Amino acid sequence: MNMDMKPIPARSGNHNMENYKEAYESFQWEEVKKQFSWNETGKVNIAYEAVDRHAENPDKKDQAALIYSAPDREETLTFEDLKLKSNQFANVLKKHNIEKGDRVFLFMPRSPEFYATFLGILKVGAIAGPLFEAFMEQAVRDRLEDSEATMLITTPELLERVPADELPNLKQVVLVGGDAPGNYISYEEEMEKASHEFEIEWVDLEDGMLLHYTSGSTGKPKGVYHVHNAMLQHYQTGKWVLDLKEDDVYWCTADPGWVTGTSYGIFAPWLNGVTNVIRGGRFSPDDWYGTIAEKNVSVWYSAPTAFRKLLSAGEEVAKKHDLSSLRHVLSVGEPLNPEVVTWGLSAFDLRIHDTWWMTETGGMLICNYPAMDMRPGSMGKPFPGIEAAIVDNEGNELPANQMGNLAIKQGWPSMMRAVWKNPGKYESYFLNGWYVSGDSAYQDEDGYFWFQGRLDDVINTSGERVGPFEVESKLIEHEAVAEAGVIGKPDPERGEIIKAFITLREGHEQSDELLEDIRQFVKKGLSAHAAPREIEIKDTIPKTRSGKIMRRLLKSWELGLPTGDTSTLEE
Ligand code: PRX
Repeated sequence: MNMDMKPIPARSGNHNMENYKEAYESFQWEEVKKQFSWNETGKVNIAYEAVDRHAENPDKKDQAALIYSAPDREETLTFEDLKLKSNQFANVLKKHNIEKGDRVFLFMPRSPEFYATFLGILKVGAIAGPLFEAFMEQAVRDRLEDSEATMLITTPELLERVPADELPNLKQVVLVGGDAPGNYISYEEEMEKASHEFEIEWVDLEDGMLLHYTSGSTGKPKGVYHVHNAMLQHYQTGKWVLDLKEDDVYWCTADPGWVTGTSYGIFAPWLNGVTNVIRGGRFSPDDWYGTIAEKNVSVWYSAPTAFRKLLSAGEEVAKKHDLSSLRHVLSVGEPLNPEVVTWGLSAFDLRIHDTWWMTETGGMLICNYPAMDMRPGSMGKPFPGIEAAIVDNEGNELPANQMGNLAIKQGWPSMMRAVWKNPGKYESYFLNGWYVSGDSAYQDEDGYFWFQGRLDDVINTSGERVGPFEVESKLIEHEAVAEAGVIGKPDPERGEIIKAFITLREGHEQSDELLEDIRQFVKKGLSAHAAPREIEIKDTIPKTRSGKIMRRLLKSWELGLPTGDTSTLEE
């Protein structure tokens, strides 16, 4: 199946990594460490490396660091501007007693203020927790509760989704844009008073900087904890995979509420001193092509779901825009279909480079590189310094072409260091010295990795990771729903859609209005991307004798597949 498309040879050019094999064989993380500036104390800070270091360089300080563009706002910040604004916000945090290790969450749309406050949090040594702006009350509550965040930065519009009174640890709320009544702290007022000078909190590489909540197949979302050390990986993958050069204009389409939007929407470009485009507002093909053309984007990191939407919008839309600034295109989040790669060749005259990694891994692990031949449908080969393998359920390596668990040898800079307050969950990722990803894959005889699917029940809808348990829990809060089982159903554009099977409580009848009401209930409670697109009413939901919902069985029914072993099925 993998060989139905010919390899696409690398184009010759001046790539940062000229030869994959050589780079892989000689690579040392210790060498990457030498790229960074170390304070006299022997300590570091990722915000200093990403921004202040360039602001202190006379040749770079006036370069645009952030080009923010949205339908109603355009703003450019230089490295110097970003340094001063984040210094000011760090002073605001200090004034309000935020200290190293405190959790400060951000819940707001992409804006210049998001980036200034995010960096300010890192500068005081606190831990930033970015929340996707589409989250509704339950999703916000779960994350603030679990992290015991003491401060939240948000906007007046989003405030109604924050149950501040019910979160005992949440002592302070900063409001960006608009009035700040009562106990709220006004961002604008505080910034006006704050000094531009700030002495950065120097930290150890192993000190925390970021919490990203992500979903598994059971339980509530988990706080994936990342440390400053990740900068080594962000910097080097930015150099070799994104192939960033100082004069690039780079655009990562991911929201910073997700890991791609921080590792590659903030750190990788700025650690490499590159101009970073942030586009606000909603997706539309015209808007996205327009952004590339207007901002002269040269390196573009996006996702299969977006490419598929552009593909189905047709070539005429693409032809209206001058895309000649693009020189390098990359993808992450879901399998990159060979058809999309073929489309990319004609739409951009460029290869789309697939990259594989996860929230937990903090940075790219298996990638396609500009100078390496690409096999469409393959995720590529391990990044230098990364040992990847396919292992069986005991952690033994499997030979080429055999499907199994995609696993990575423990110990790389951007790896999560903990699951927040959940050591058992953290331990459960490891087997025999391997980090086991939960994805199944195989490796061909030439070392290329091929993604096959998830081994657990986690759903990947339009590149966003959704835990079925979270959706099921919300569904059964609806007055008409007795039980619920949720699966991912294959979909040509979104990868998967969420399908819910429910049973109704006594006294409720099936109707289109009821189903729509249930859908809206999840949408308003959790978020739009977690709301089931399909809901089917059943008489019973299959469960094991111990009461676990058998999602696998629901999926087999849905897809008309053999049901396999059902010996644990409840009578
Ligand atoms: O199943 C894999 C899929 O997305 C999962 C990780 O999701 P998340 O933590 O939200 O991070 C997404 C962005 C880093 C993986 O376990 N996935 C990610 N990249 C790929 C992929 N599946 C296939 N091909 C990829 N390139």
